[in-house]
Amino acid sequence: MPSPSLARPALAVLLTLATACATVPSAVRPVPRDADNRELREFATATWAWRDGARVAGGDSAMVTANEPLAARVGLDVLRAGGNAVDAAVAVGFALAVTYPEAGNLGGGGFMLVRMADGRTAAFDFREMAPAAATREMFLDANGEPTDASRVGHRASGVPGSVAGLHLAHGRLGRLPWPAVVGPAIALARDGFEVDSTMEAALAGSQRLICRFAGCPVFFPEGRPAARGTRFRQPALAATLERIAAQGADGFYRGPTAEAIAAEMRRGGGLITTADLAAYRAAERRPLAGRYRDRTILTMPPVSSGGVTLLEALNVLETWPRLAPPGTTAHAHQLGAVLQRAYLDRNLRLGDPEATPLPVDELTSKAYARRLRATIPEDRATPIADIPSVLRDGPETTHFNVVDAEGNAVATTTTINDLFGSGVYVAEAGFFLNDEMDDFAARPGRPNGFGLVQGEANAIAPGKRMLSSMTPTIVLGADGRPELLVGARGGGLIISAVLQIVLNVVEHGMPLTRAIAAPRWHHQAWPDTLRYEAGGVAPDVLAELQRMGWAVRAGGTGRATAIQRRPGGGWWGAADPRRDGVAMGW
Ligand code: GLY
Repeated sequence: MPSPSLARPALAVLLTLATACATVPSAVRPVPRDADNRELREFATATWAWRDGARVAGGDSAMVTANEPLAARVGLDVLRAGGNAVDAAVAVGFALAVTYPEAGNLGGGGFMLVRMADGRTAAFDFREMAPAAATREMFLDANGEPTDASRVGHRASGVPGSVAGLHLAHGRLGRLPWPAVVGPAIALARDGFEVDSTMEAALAGSQRLICRFAGCPVFFPEGRPAARGTRFRQPALAATLERIAAQGADGFYRGPTAEAIAAEMRRGGGLITTADLAAYRAAERRPLAGRYRDRTILTMPPVSSGGVTLLEALNVLETWPRLAPPGTTAHAHQLGAVLQRAYLDRNLRLGDPEATPLPVDELTSKAYARRLRATIPEDRATPIADIPSVLRDGPETTHFNVVDAEGNAVATTTTINDLFGSGVYVAEAGFFLNDEMDDFAARPGRPNGFGLVQGEANAIAPGKRMLSSMTPTIVLGADGRPELLVGARGGGLIISAVLQIVLNVVEHGMPLTRAIAAPRWHHQAWPDTLRYEAGGVAPDVLAELQRMGWAVRAGGTGRATAIQRRPGGGWWGAADPRRDGVAMGW
């Protein structure tokens, strides 16, 4: 059997053929086959919506992908002005806080993974932290039941980390002066930008939430969402960004911005104080590094669960000499069984590494993967009864990638959790606050108000970071240079989405657009259900999986953006067709 890397050119030809054949009626369409003469069925159904829908761009030197085009353009401009990929990523992060208020933020947190062309790597952790006054049972009612206060309103917010994280990353690895990377966001906030249909629709969908708090007059002038085609200015946010440009992180964590956050907290019964803000620190951590076949996978360590779960899943999948092709029952079974086990560990054993010793080495070892593989029957599902889950669908996060002409690569995911976070808007400073406290276990060991359960390792404690699923990842090719940058939004759905995009590129040899557009599976241990994207799976495959004992149901997936190195030089960038996003090359 040829190795996956030898098979790739043949696969690429066959996949191109499959694209060309997309309009041929299925009855006569030739079935594409891989180099081992196996059917390629990743778009096996005629009903699959995203067959060729990924937005793609090429670039000879550099590439930026992001969920919002004005922010992506800022990244490209910073690169053209002589900035490196870290400068550009920091500038995109600040720009998204202005142009993409549903998920871009100053009031949230995230993770940035960097691989410099000279081989240096860094993982910046700017996850939010529980305020000092947080308590283990702060989201339980008198009957011990979880309330929605972990998602909506003032107590839902952790101490924001984004500004500290972007400042730390820039200070360590950026090249341009700090004001040059904050400046584009200031201009967008002060001079305004044209509202597009995406922003108008996002606002309309969250009007009830936003209008419970102080953002209502800003985003709903005359009671309606800021309308597409109108210019949207944010002077309070511009002033906050100017303080950040002038004073660095202190422009956010001390002085007028910090006082405005604390005052808003006092107004609404929240917990964050100026002391919490002054005490916040972003962390530089060592990226997790693992091997899959002949590739190196760089990814995010805890307090994101993403990297551990991704590597654990890849290690188990690698125990098969070759994975079954996408679109087949065997493929779904392999993925389902592996995700089931990896998410189980994720749910029960991970949390803040500074609060609890974590079994990262064990979970990401090849020996552990072999033990897990031994528990997977080839012909039937393994039920997980009585296993709680940490996850729920839908937290609204944003992922962006940058590569520059020197080969520096940056993958960043940031979040305020739900769309527009907790809904609380700090009017004097011009931004929404996160509802990241919901990523903690409100009640360890039992389902919370959303049917979710998390382990002791992720219980609420003052000053602790809540577990995340964000999975910014960089795959190095066999030559040691970046081959793929990928990440996604979608809470617990992120990890399985990133896993499948990595596999689609590395294992199945798909070009990036198909790798992102192909239907995905998801399993998160509990509920014990293998989820598929509606319209993306052939009915005979679903029937066969049910015969094997899988409970299957339609569900969502994460929404990714990614960059792939082109074989002849330069880059492809692609945004997931399932959600807004853009790729811009240079
Ligand atoms: N707030 C979603 C996550 O961090 O996983």
